[in-house]
Amino acid sequence: MKKIILTVALITLAFTTSSWAATNCPQPRKTKAAPSNIASKDMTAKASAANGKKLYNKSAKPLACKMCHGDKGDGMGKLGKALKPNPRNFTCSDTMKDVSAGQMFWIIKNGSAGTGMAAHKKTLKDKQIWDVVKYIRESWVK
Ligand code: HEC
Repeated sequence: MKKIILTVALITLAFTTSSWAATNCPQPRKTKAAPSNIASKDMTAKASAANGKKLYNKSAKPLACKMCHGDKGDGMGKLGKALKPNPRNFTCSDTMKDVSAGQMFWIIKNGSAGTGMAAHKKTLKDKQIWDVVKYIRESWVK
């Protein structure tokens, strides 16, 4: 009997997880809009995607971005799965088509109050933020 209950529980879990993933794109976006002069700014041309990759996967403080946004950029990181609202799914072009490099820069710098997205203005220099924006856009944003 215990085995049956466990099996049913596992199937239910698998089902809810996969149906959640399907609703992860398009994602409702309530992040505050960056001021227009920043939203239209793009400093990624001179930024380093290689350095951005290190920050994203390892060294960004307080937490590596991948903990929430996932190592595939799909918002399915270890911590991210449980968060409401969910971390941005960078692979979702339906959502990301409206998110400029400058908008990403602004939210990474200032955070999104009341969500898991922390402000990084004390822990990352502007140059480092552009590096991580470049890495995300080159890797996943279509
Ligand atoms: C603790 C979990 C967590 C970590 C760590 C985290 N984020 Fe986020 N991030 C979120 C959540 C949650 C949102 C969605 C916020 C919202 O909808 O208001 C988000 C949203 C974003 C957005 C979307 C901006 C927009 O306007 O749509 C970008 C870009 C972003 N994060 C980049 C990063 C980068 C780069 C890092 C690492 C330096 C990082 N995040 C670290 C949870 C996290």
